[in-house]
Amino acid sequence: MIQPHGGTLVSRLIEGADADALLEKAAGLPILSLDSRETSDLEMIATGAMSPLEGFMSQADYDSVLSDIRLADGTVWPLPVVLSTKGDAPAPEVGTQAALAGPDGEILGIIEISDAWQPDKKAELLACYSGSNAEADEEHPAWGWLNSVGDTYIGGRITVARLPRHTDFNEHRLTPAETRASFAERGWTTIAAFQTRNPIHRAHEYLTKVALEQTDGLLIHPLVGDTKSDDIPSTVRMRCYEILLERYYPSERTMLAVYPQAMRYGGPREAVLHAICRQNYGCTHIIIGRDHAGVGSYYGTFDAQGIFDGFGDNGLAIRTLRFEHAFYCRLTGGMATTKSSPAGPDDRVFLSGTKVREMLAAGERPPAEFTRPEVADILIESHAQPAGA
Ligand code: ADX
Ligand code: MG
Repeated sequence: MIQPHGGTLVSRLIEGADADALLEKAAGLPILSLDSRETSDLEMIATGAMSPLEGFMSQADYDSVLSDIRLADGTVWPLPVVLSTKGDAPAPEVGTQAALAGPDGEILGIIEISDAWQPDKKAELLACYSGSNAEADEEHPAWGWLNSVGDTYIGGRITVARLPRHTDFNEHRLTPAETRASFAERGWTTIAAFQTRNPIHRAHEYLTKVALEQTDGLLIHPLVGDTKSDDIPSTVRMRCYEILLERYYPSERTMLAVYPQAMRYGGPREAVLHAICRQNYGCTHIIIGRDHAGVGSYYGTFDAQGIFDGFGDNGLAIRTLRFEHAFYCRLTGGMATTKSSPAGPDDRVFLSGTKVREMLAAGERPPAEFTRPEVADILIESHAQPAGA
């Protein structure tokens, strides 16, 4: 089985009497409130999905991540995983402990505060979310959440007594220890992970099928943490994934589990985060196609592939499966990429996200070359619901 990033699968989750005692102690501590992104990070840290992180980042790690894409000890790490004060709440003192509360106010665990500092949020935005096409600006979604939190970041190791409560997808919520056990049980030694925040259309399906030709198994691992409001909600997407798995994938070689992280829209740096975490879940390969984790036109189409070449031998153990633009090709009568088909643009069936949204809103089914009819039906039906439903 592939090593977790940093060598050891972290567990910051305690159970039983220990958990009860921790919650009792937490009741007497000052409370730090986590927003939904931080809560999903807490879950990822506690279960080891973010190994080797044992808590929210220290200032030294944060500075090093921004400047060098590494933690202070040299381990590759691409994006800040930080906890912030909210509103005008005063920053707690370094050396003390605080209780961590989720968005619904429920106490989840404790942090041992080792660091508190005022970040330069503009510098964070520019360092992490700029691409080869454009500098990150105030239109970038990261700017929205950077400004939604207070002015102090708090670092420290966490201990979690209770994972955030979820009402959806519970049968698909597997921790890294659970996916690893499941891979072992199935006898898979090479596993390709597929990160997505979209319904799976034919182009996505093609990437996963090409991966399956080479690996023992496929983990379809859709991100279900926070996404932009115009991304398709995870509840709708899950219905699409389930029907696809039922009809179009070999069940003995495919697994569906959810990935609880929040989307950062960090392009190349986020691709590295996605890869590290999938390594922790036990995957040996991760699919990285065009504009992975992109938004707008900040990043170059293949920047999220090239970034992996810069880390050297002691970077990541997980390997990338890289893909050029995939499409249905009318000339060859099948799915292809620019690497495998001689067709010109006119013979490629490709619809932009905007075009698809327009078609679905009008109740029109995108062509079967673009998306499976069952997926189109689910998307049309969900579009027909009034906004907010
Ligand atoms: S995201 O994490 O990259 O935002 P998304 O659902 O948009 O998720 O894409 C999932 C994966 O499929 C990414 O690796 C992306 O690069 C790849 N991808 C999506 N569409 C295509 C395409 N038409 N051709 C090649 N790769 C693609
Ligand atoms: Mg995309």
